[in-house]
Amino acid sequence: MITGASSGIGKGLALEIASRGASVGLLARREELLKEIVSEVQARNAKAVYATADVRDAKAVREAADKFRKELGPIDVLIANAGMGTSDHATRLTPEHAANVIGINVLGAVNSVAAVASEMVARGQGRLVAISSLAAYRGLAKSAAYCASKAALSSYFESVRIDLRNTGVEVTIIHPGFIKTDLTAGREAKMPYLMELDYGVSKIIYAIEKEKKTYAFPWQLATIVRAGLLMPTAMYDWIAARNSFRE
Ligand SMILES: NC(=O)c1ccc[n+]([C@@H]2O[C@H](COP(=O)([O-])OP(=O)(O)OC[C@H]3O[C@@H](n4cnc5c(N)ncnc54)[C@H](OP(=O)(O)O)[C@@H]3O)[C@@H](O)[C@H]2O)c1
Repeated sequence: MITGASSGIGKGLALEIASRGASVGLLARREELLKEIVSEVQARNAKAVYATADVRDAKAVREAADKFRKELGPIDVLIANAGMGTSDHATRLTPEHAANVIGINVLGAVNSVAAVASEMVARGQGRLVAISSLAAYRGLAKSAAYCASKAALSSYFESVRIDLRNTGVEVTIIHPGFIKTDLTAGREAKMPYLMELDYGVSKIIYAIEKEKKTYAFPWQLATIVRAGLLMPTAMYDWIAARNSFRE
């Protein structure tokens, strides 16, 4: 089950996973795009079922998961990928906008986990995958809502991982850097180590197959971000203010 499967990383994952023979349940809002991806999956001799749902709607996400289970069988892997990017200076960030970002990026993933976790625990197997971001590690310029959402998402999945220890259900938290998708398209700010979609997808699949608990890439940017965690606050602020990845 892949949320946010209609474009970008979610679509790339769906097609690559289908190429390896797995059946995929595709969830997003844009039906026309999902229908096209179902056809592309079928052309790869694999099965796909789509469900249109907004991840903020817990009932709709549960019904989508039920549909996937009914038509494809038990859900082995959830990839909670649906998300939105956003750029706002702190003085222009409205509470409504922040609530929307958190609603999709965090509560949407919570709804997705809620739709599959108990069935996975009952079966004693399954994997919950979060597509978080390197933006989860520390605050970045003009990204308060996005950074807050990804930090919350990573912490949420970490807690879930601890709670589900010894149940047979595993958790993988992915922290990608910049990948070429609609989310990064049109940005004028320099995005260091910007990756092609195919490369990003291959790294995410590697992390899932290797059963990583957490995985950050590309290693160059991940190393810089981890170094930021060790910096004194004043030094971090000085560097982060001079390195905005948003206009
Ligand atoms: N691209 C990057 O550089 C990058 C880096 C780190 C992390 N990420 C994360 O990767 C994930 C995928 O992003 P992307 O880069 O592939 O961008 P994208 O092409 O814009 O894809 C976003 C996906 O999320 C879905 N989505 C958005 N809001 C939704 C909602 N309310 N309900 C259901 N689905 C919703 C969209 O589908 P519909 O509009 O059809 O609903 C779309 O399929 C996001 O969580 C993003 O934060 C991206």
